Amino acid sequence: MPDELLALAAEAGECTHCSLHQSRTHVVFGMGAPNAELMFIGEGPGAEEDKQGLPFVGRSGKLLDKLILEEIGVTRDRCYIANVVKCRPPRNRDPKPDEIASCRPYLEQQIELIRPHVIVTLGNFSSKLLLDTDTGITKLRGRSYEYGGAVLIPTFHPSAALRGGAEPLAKMRSDLVRAKLALAA
Ligand code: URA
Repeated sequence: MPDELLALAAEAGECTHCSLHQSRTHVVFGMGAPNAELMFIGEGPGAEEDKQGLPFVGRSGKLLDKLILEEIGVTRDRCYIANVVKCRPPRNRDPKPDEIASCRPYLEQQIELIRPHVIVTLGNFSSKLLLDTDTGITKLRGRSYEYGGAVLIPTFHPSAALRGGAEPLAKMRSDLVRAKLALAA
């Protein structure tokens, strides 16, 4: 990891800015190529992520890996994967506004340092945060946006595809094809 990203990870590793630090096992800063052209942003660590200190290593992550490979043709190590909040919300509850606000500078600095060409936001939390909107993911997805010089493509969180079956899955696949085309542009 380049020095600045390492320094940021070290800072996040000791973070006590919100109450989530009290119940975490590990800070889940993010993983992948520091110069990745493609970045994925989820919501927050679940139980397995909290245990391992790595993002998307549970059921949602397995589906995400499969979709990235099948639709974009790359493995996760070629991408960078991060979350809106870096510590697990207890019992996987939604992150609260003050937790999101406390953690936001880490995500913004990650994006600035990695400078991805394409950002795929997974689900409501990351999509609404980066697009600065209250509009939900069902309405947001299906097109691309601009975010700080990058192409931002919102899609469903993989857990929605795990819960919701064929339709969200098909839509995620088409959003990832959009990301592949944006990477090639
Ligand atoms: N869900 C997320 O949003 N992020 C993870 O890292 C794992 C599951």
